[in-house]
Order: sequence, then C-alpha cells, then structure tokens
Amino acid sequence: MPTQSTSKRLWRDVQVFDGLVQLDEAMTVLVEDGRIAGLWPAREFNEARAEGAACAGRGGVLTPGLVDCHTHLVYAGNRAGEFEQRLEGVSYEEIARAGGGILSSVRATRAASEDELIAASLPRLDALLADGVTTVEIKSGYGLTAADELKMLRVARRLGELRPVRVITTLLGAHALPPEYAGRADDYVSLVCEEMIPAAAAEGLADAVDVFCEGIGFSPAQCERIYQAAKAHGLAIKAHAEQLSNLGGSALAARYGALSADHIEYLDEAGVRAMAEAGTVAVLLPGAFHVLRETRLPPIELLRQYGVPMAVASDANPGTSPICMPTLMANLACTLFRLTPREALSGMTAQAARALGRLDLGRIEVGAPADLCLWDIQQPAELAYAVQAGRLRQRVFKGEVVYAR
Ligand code: NIG
Ligand code: FE
Repeated sequence: MPTQSTSKRLWRDVQVFDGLVQLDEAMTVLVEDGRIAGLWPAREFNEARAEGAACAGRGGVLTPGLVDCHTHLVYAGNRAGEFEQRLEGVSYEEIARAGGGILSSVRATRAASEDELIAASLPRLDALLADGVTTVEIKSGYGLTAADELKMLRVARRLGELRPVRVITTLLGAHALPPEYAGRADDYVSLVCEEMIPAAAAEGLADAVDVFCEGIGFSPAQCERIYQAAKAHGLAIKAHAEQLSNLGGSALAARYGALSADHIEYLDEAGVRAMAEAGTVAVLLPGAFHVLRETRLPPIELLRQYGVPMAVASDANPGTSPICMPTLMANLACTLFRLTPREALSGMTAQAARALGRLDLGRIEVGAPADLCLWDIQQPAELAYAVQAGRLRQRVFKGEVVYAR
C-alpha cells in the first residue's frame, strides 16, 4: 500500500471553471506541494498518476480562489448616517465638499491604533474569505499623513499574517485632500511623492500606488506627478478614474503603464483605446455604482470591442460600497453592467489577478499556485446567478484546505 503524502491531494469529478472558461467535462485535479500538479478529464484519469494522493473532495464546482483586486478594507467607523443623507437626495460630492465622505473616515482612522484597525477590519476580511477570496488587494487612503498611511499599510500586511490569504497592498495617499492642506493641494502631492511613496517603498509596505483622479480628488497633472514618483520607486500604478466625470485619468494611467483603471463609468473611446494599447485592465466596481445609485454605465461594449480585459471587484469601503461579498459583485456585474456570468467570474479570478500584475494567480492550470474554491453548486454560472451565502464547501490556499464545511 503506498503511503499517503499529506501534501498530495486530489479533487475528483469536479466541474472546473479555470479562470477563463468552464471546462467541458468533469475533471480530476491533483495538487502537490502547494501547486496544481495535474488536471485530467475524470474518465481518463489513471490512478497511477497520483499515487499516494488523498482524496480531498468529490463533486461540485472548482474555481480559482477569488481575487478581490480593489478594496479599502482597512478603516475605522462607518458612514451609515451619510447613507441616509444620500437617500434623502444629498449627493456623494456634496457630502465630500462639506467635509464628510472620505474625510469622515479619515478622522476615525487617524484616531485608531493599529490594533483597533485590525479589530475593525478582520470581520470584513473574514466575510470575504467566507465567500471564497484567496487574494485581496487592500488600499490605504484614510490616513493622509505619512505616518497614518503607513499605519494602514502595516495593518493590511498584518491582516495577511492573521488569516490564510494573500494581501496585496496599495498606497492611496492621493485619495482626498486632508483639511490641513486646504488650498495647498500641490504641497500635499509633494508630501505623497517625497515622503509617502519613498517610505512605503523602502519599508516594502506597498506593491502599487493609486490615485483618485476626480474633481473632488486630484487633477490629472497632480496624478502624473504621483505616477512619476511611483515609477521612480519601482511601484506599479493604478487609478480611480472616470467615476464621476471624464478627466482623462484612465488614458493618463495607461500612458504610465498602469495595471488597471478602476470605476470608469465616464470612460470614452479614446480612453478605451489607450487602455487597450497599454494592456491596462478595466476594473469594474458595480457595488459603488449600485450604492451611489449611478445611472451612467461603463462602456462595456467598447471595452469588449477593443479587447480590454475586464475585472470585477468589491471596492469594499465605508462610503460607496460597504459590501463584503464578492459573489454579489459577480451578480451585480451581470444585472447592472450586463456582463455574462463567464465574464464576471473571469473578472473575479484571472482578470482580477492581471489587475494586480499577478499572472500566476486566478487560474486553474498546471504549475499555478493551488488557491482554489470548491462550491456546492452544479455549474459555475450559478455563482453570478444566485445571491446566496454559504455555498463554499472548501477554500484551498497554497494547496492547504484552510476552510471546510
Ligand atoms: O472607490 N472614489 C473614491 N474612493 C472610493 C470611495 C471611498 C469612500 O467614499 O470612502 C471608491 O469609491
Ligand atoms: Fe475604490
């Protein structure tokens, strides 16, 4: 009798969505030493190929672990009061200009210690994990001083040590102008470029740099300075762009080789073309669209025509998307933006990984890290079709079954 190796596991008779497409027939998947080591149609599977492997699961749908490529998961407090104001007709911009919005979360986050931020953020992270996330991007942006931005990034990194999940961090110092810099936005941008970016890079706290390119955020010229500083420090680039108006932020980001431009409801054809040429991923955030009751749709058909990869993310944040349920985002991407379920699932796996510059993640293919989800459903499209917690049977991280029901 061959001995069973604990690092060698088989999933049998699973329907596989590989990150791009659903495979035609039931499959057998072999995981060894944290990676996908084999993938065969179940009826062709030869037991000799997986000698010593333990059967870890049978039946159901196997997908890559979900990749939530855009979140603001770390913050203190909440903005339920603003939610009510908006329902009464006050706009997101009006609240922001009156010193609420992002700045309200900045006040609460500045006042919180690292431990308090961990305690506030862990339940949100756990909600994402319970819905299948194995990689999550977390942005700063509610500190807006060098010390408080680094504090947020350290908290994000610590979250990744407290739970079995990959955390990718993004410095979003240019999220809003803090009150102490009122009327001196260029000086604040200098602080981001000359202090925050160098410190975050030196301490290895940020994988990328993001900006909010918007009337209530930062101008394209200011964003460009930040991109230059990010490049000089070897950090990847992302953008919140064309969310509330068209300032050409996506095209600017694309010119700098951005990994992604996110939101993009107001993106025009020139912007789509620029993104296609640069290989910049379009990150769609239907949660923010839904919560802000927006009506202007992102240019989905143009993105398809130009072959711009589309990712879908939660944008989990206290203002525009207080939602920690990635499969709901897949549903909203279909119902609100008319993505196909296949596009939505690919948007939360392979394309989301691409938006993080991690081409190794979000795929079920031989050699890829074994970050996987086994779902109690019949076919992958159900993840986008039905909104239902508790369908996750197993979450596999680096080949280990870290959650099982
Ligand atoms: O992605 N648009 C800017 N940033 C966030 C919202 C942050 C907030 O309101 O706290 C977003 O929508
Ligand atoms: Fe965001």
